[in-house]
Parts: sequence; structure tokens; C-alpha cells
Amino acid sequence: MSTPDLFTPVRLGRFDLPNRIVMAPMTRSRAGAGNVPTPLMATYYGQRATAGLIITEATQVRADAQGYPDTPGIHTNEQAAGWRRVADAVHERGGRIFTQIWHTGRVSHPLFQPDGGLPVAPSAIPLAGQVYTHEGMKDYVVPRALDAEEIPGIVRAFAEAARRAVFDAGLDGVEIHGANGYLIDQFLRDGTNQRTDGYGGSIANRARFLFEVTEAVAAAIGADRVGVRLSPTGTFNSMSDSDPLATFSHATEGLNRFGLAYLHIIEGLPGSAMAKPEDAPAVAPALRRLFNGLFMINGGYDRATGDAALAERAADLVSYGAPFIANPDLPARFRQGAPLAVGDRASFYGGTEVGYTDYPALDSALVA
Ligand SMILES: Cc1cc2nc3c(=O)[nH]c(=O)nc-3n(C[C@H](O)[C@H](O)[C@H](O)COP(=O)(O)O)c2cc1C
Repeated sequence: MSTPDLFTPVRLGRFDLPNRIVMAPMTRSRAGAGNVPTPLMATYYGQRATAGLIITEATQVRADAQGYPDTPGIHTNEQAAGWRRVADAVHERGGRIFTQIWHTGRVSHPLFQPDGGLPVAPSAIPLAGQVYTHEGMKDYVVPRALDAEEIPGIVRAFAEAARRAVFDAGLDGVEIHGANGYLIDQFLRDGTNQRTDGYGGSIANRARFLFEVTEAVAAAIGADRVGVRLSPTGTFNSMSDSDPLATFSHATEGLNRFGLAYLHIIEGLPGSAMAKPEDAPAVAPALRRLFNGLFMINGGYDRATGDAALAERAADLVSYGAPFIANPDLPARFRQGAPLAVGDRASFYGGTEVGYTDYPALDSALVA
């Protein structure tokens, strides 16, 4: 096989991708009342349909999964109808779109909880810092440790969300959010999981929740529509693990049995936003060797470093986050070697069309 680059087509699950440039999931906090995706969100994703694959912002699997204002859900009929508009907009422009499904666990606040209660987590360990709410910044609270009997209900919620996403909303698949310190990651890493039952202690026990969710989601929609995202060395949301290589090697090997569409690993290039701590050993190269399906990497890549990673077989796909915010036609810009626009951080989260759908394409006919 000749050396692949970002423009080498690839088969992902049941989909033929015209390029290997994936839009990484990005929360933009612009859902409407009831956390329903809006027509503006359909415009935004439609503008980005030239990506090989779009992975949407993280989406709640049920009401108590929310951790930030105005993030969309996929647990009501209204939300599914909103997502159908998004899916249609992308499909009309020839694209493919998975939605990222999450439960934020302890990264939430009673103000986001339907009953005003405590957020849930594997263990009653709070994260540092404050959360943005509709009532301003609030300290994170000590979460409530889940009873083992509550866990199957959350697993079912992931599967039901996936079913709704594909069969009701017409999205092409889902990415299970196992990264960045949200509920699945809270179970995986020992900094947040100090349970003494079958979901804590050993690495095998800590990975159980991830595997149960993956199995249920794959059974609901087919593994060839399912990806998983992990962040072995990420520290966002006060995360830590005593042995990331061992923990995430086990997770990766365990995921092999499902035949997933892809595994998506965040371990940013040095100096990038999602870079691992300088003294932490890299884990992604080992996971690449262990995983038997398509391997997607993320974090601080540009055209040259993305092509280099593919040429070296360090990955099969590269996802781009921030570059897609201000460059809706990122693949065309890469192909032409055109300069990239820089997004305005003030409009990353929340707001209107400003800083969202008003970034022009090089050739505006492409996204008209
Ligand atoms: C505004 C913004 C929102 C994000 N929201 C999510 C999210 O919902 N889910 C997720 O897994 N990662 C999220 N991320 C992380 C990105 O997917 C990606 O890992 C990160 O931006 C690094 O890639 P980049 O250097 O190409 O931007 C977000 C990043 C940004 C900039």
C-alpha cells in the first residue's frame, strides 16, 4: 500500500470516508429550550460536512447526565427531532456524522440535576474548581457515590441514546465519551474510583463500566456505528491515574472484542492544549499497537503533523478540534495549503451565530 495521507480515503465501519480529516467533538453550548438541537446547529454542522467524519459535541444520554449549560441531549423525542435536522443538513451536503454521547458524572452541579440533587460518580470525590451555570460560577460539590444497583440503568441510558440517535434522529453512529474526566473516565482511573465492589479496585473492575456501556451500545446499533474516545494522560477535570499505560492497555485490549468503527485517543502534541504532562510517558503509541481496528489521534495537529502521523502509521485518522471552529472548509484549506483562520475564544461556549456559523469558507459557494 502506498503511504497514506490526510486525503487517502478510508473505510470506517460501514462508511466510506473521502478523507481522514475528522471534526473532533466540541461542546458549543448553543442548544435550545429542553436542550434541543436548533436549526442554527444544523447550519453549523452542515457547513462542516466536507470533513471525512463529523463527531458532534457531547450529548446527554439522560437528564442527570448534564454538566454545562445549553448542551444538547438525546433522551427526548424533541431532541431526536432536533438532531434529525442536523443529520439531514450534513447528509444533504454529502457528509457523515456521529454524535458523542456522555454522562458527565461528578462534573455537574445540583443546578443541572432534574431533582436538584447531587451529581453522581463512582466515589464521593469532588473535583477542584468551579462550574459555569445559569446562576454564575459555582464551586463543584462532593458527588454521591453510585450504588451498584444504579449502574445498569445508566448503561441502558447509553444504549437507548444510541438507538435514538441512529433510528430516530438519522445520525450515522455514536462516539462513547470515555475521555476528559466524565463518568466513564471517572470509573477508569484510580484518582476518581475508590470503589470496593465489582466496579472498583483492580483495573479489570474499573474498566467494567466502559465495557458494559460499549457492549450495550454496540448491541443497540451495531459495533460498526460505534467509536470510543479515551484520554489516557489527560489531566482536565482533576483527573489522574497511578498507571495510565496499564489501565488504558487493558481498556484497549478489552475493546478489541467488539469490532468498533474506531478508537479515538487524545494525547496532544507537546505544547498543545491536550498535551500530556511533560514528565508522563506517552501512552498512545502503545495503544496503537494493541488496538486491532482504526485508530484516531487528536491534539494540536495541523496538516503537516497530521500527514506525518499517517505516513508513520501512528494513526489511521486525525481529528481536529479548534481548527474546525473558524475554518468550516478545513479539508479544502489543507488541500490548498491556504492559511487557517483563528477562532475567537470568547464565542466558543454559548451565544448566537456570532463566532459560530459566521466564519466564511475560502470559497463561500462550498458552504452556501
Ligand atoms: C470549544 C471546545 C469544546 C470541546 N468540547 C469537547 C467535547 O464535547 N467532547 C470532547 O471529547 N472533547 C471536547 N473538546 C476537546 C476537543 O475534541 C479536542 O480534543 C481538543 O480541542 C484538542 O484538539 P485540537 O488541538 O485539534 O483542538 C473541546 C474542545 C474545544 C476547543
